[in-house]
Amino acid sequence: MNTEQEIDELRQNIRAADVNYYNGGESKLTDAQYDEMFVTLRKLEADHPELVTEDSPTQRVGTPLPKGGMFETQEHLAAMGSLESLMGADEVRAFVERARKLLELEEGATLDWSCEPKLDGVSANILYENGQLVRGLSRGDGQSGEDITRNLLTIRNLPVQLAGDGPFPAQIEIRGEVIMSKQGFAALQKREETTSEGTFRNARNTVAGTLKLLDPRTVKRRPLDFLAFAIGHVDGLELRSHDQLRAQLATWGFTVAEPAAPAKDINAILAFRDDLESRRDDLPYEMDGVVAKVNDFELQQLLGRTSRTPRWALAYKFAPRLARSRVEKIGAQVGRTGAVTPVAHLAPTELVGVTVRNASLHNWALLAERDVREGDAVEIQRAGDVIPEVVRVFVDERGPDSQPTAPPTACPACEGPLQLEGKFLYCSNLDCPAQLVGRIVHLASRRAFDIEGLGPKQVEQLVAAKLVTSVEDVFDLRAKQEQLLELERWGKRSTQNLLKQIDARKELPIGRFLNGIGIRHVGESTARDLAKHFGTLDRLRNATQAELLAVDGVGDEVAAAILQFFASDKNKATLQALQTAGVEPQAAERNDDGPLAGRVFAFTGGLTTMSRDEAKEKVEALGAKAAGGISKKVTDVIAGTDAGSKLAKAEKLGLRILDEEAFNEMMEKL
Ligand code: IVH
Repeated sequence: MNTEQEIDELRQNIRAADVNYYNGGESKLTDAQYDEMFVTLRKLEADHPELVTEDSPTQRVGTPLPKGGMFETQEHLAAMGSLESLMGADEVRAFVERARKLLELEEGATLDWSCEPKLDGVSANILYENGQLVRGLSRGDGQSGEDITRNLLTIRNLPVQLAGDGPFPAQIEIRGEVIMSKQGFAALQKREETTSEGTFRNARNTVAGTLKLLDPRTVKRRPLDFLAFAIGHVDGLELRSHDQLRAQLATWGFTVAEPAAPAKDINAILAFRDDLESRRDDLPYEMDGVVAKVNDFELQQLLGRTSRTPRWALAYKFAPRLARSRVEKIGAQVGRTGAVTPVAHLAPTELVGVTVRNASLHNWALLAERDVREGDAVEIQRAGDVIPEVVRVFVDERGPDSQPTAPPTACPACEGPLQLEGKFLYCSNLDCPAQLVGRIVHLASRRAFDIEGLGPKQVEQLVAAKLVTSVEDVFDLRAKQEQLLELERWGKRSTQNLLKQIDARKELPIGRFLNGIGIRHVGESTARDLAKHFGTLDRLRNATQAELLAVDGVGDEVAAAILQFFASDKNKATLQALQTAGVEPQAAERNDDGPLAGRVFAFTGGLTTMSRDEAKEKVEALGAKAAGGISKKVTDVIAGTDAGSKLAKAEKLGLRILDEEAFNEMMEKL
């Protein structure tokens, strides 16, 4: 092998390992082997600078990040334009008419449009060479963007190798939107009220912040998706229409923006937009309008572009969901972590079918910046299904006595001292009743201890009556039956039910336990990963930082939070008390006598109803193993959309193959 070949092979192996590491596959390499390859490659490149290429792993993926926490800027191969945003049906009409005129279409001749949602996320431009993902850039200024490859590689539905047998274009830039589904965003909000960068204001904002994070392991814990909708520079592929492009993208394993529909005229475009707007709340991710594109690529070429926007594509936004309201009071709420955040209590206001009473103000710095005051007339906006936000203050309408609202100087719930940490005020009293309510509600939630009948109202009542003064007290309620019965709305039946529920939850899988005890930054999925990795509470409790970092998805921030949690005397006492009360987290073991014991599942292609990780967890929970690739050991192959070469191999081996629907049906029956 000559040096060039050796370098080439090292690069390929390193890239494959990077992809596995960041994208959650199974790596066949140990860290030491990886390091060795890296060092060898570096050495060879140092000796042969003429062989260093821009896309070598030493130059990018897997290399330490540049100092100062910045991403490298790189040029897009083709500029990333934006879309002309149209304000009403008349503007759409004018846009479509202009296109028809430029194309010199006769009256009665149809111009085919392809409609899809305008996704409300952050756009990215991803370069594939010969089917292999080589880099991903943010949009930046349209000419060049930041190299966020490492972060993009954590996105589960983003193919790192295009599916199918090829041939693949020598180069192709795939454009699309990085988004967070409404469900994913809600789960994240629940897991982490705040981060060092701020609260999670809305899905779009969170995606933008997430892609800028420097530690891909933190990014990996955020549920991002990539939806493809366009191409930039392409070399070695002939496509005739946007429809064909969408089909090709799907074949390669991309998720494309849905729902999509063809439109033959203006009215069809308008109807598509109105229909989507009316279903906006039922769709799985945020969109803020529709995009209509001339379907035929040749016609697109003919139409060309203005300096900024194409003449063949338009964006028609949904009507903003705004309403006028009045701030009656600015209050402060205390979360389970002790974060004290401002909230605007509003005069009840109808806003597209819901009565809004509160608006989030996120943090005190933002409140001061926007200068929202009690008594102000404000405009509020609802984006998707998130809590409404104050978007505008009618300053002119303010009375002479209006005063800015100062942040509280003591905890609104316990009057304890407050501490400023970054943008946040924290109540530092560990016995603060509001924090306690938050912690117990979290503990009792469905994905943790799952104690029905212990929602926010009930917990507030129990805490106010001092029947529980700590998390562990929940498990001692049986001794306080008499007092429980004296509380308003607690009958014999509901009391008995609750006590029975609590008893039944004392033995629970350790993953649920870890989620429930509310370690900072440890939500449902990290809790499950920790459970799987360490098996028992004791092993986790004694884990070192290095051992914690070895867990998939655990980065510096999470590891530090876990160490801190178990080092705290207060938490030690709580865990001890839980044990004394009979709470016994069950060691995580593979369910060897589960209904799927002995079977080995391999997943290939994209799944639509869940992520591959979720699917793997599901089968593992029932006793099966999940395999990384196709081999004779595999008993069941689950073929998602565009399963590609793995599927062909499975067919060759004569394995049992199920599509996603059949898989879901089978799981439901178990
Ligand atoms: S096509 C030449 N399709 O909107 C522009 N863009 O204002 C090609 N966007 O930066 C873009 N959904 O981030 C296209 N279905 C969709 C889209 C979409 C959202 C974003 C995109 C772009 C911005 C343009």
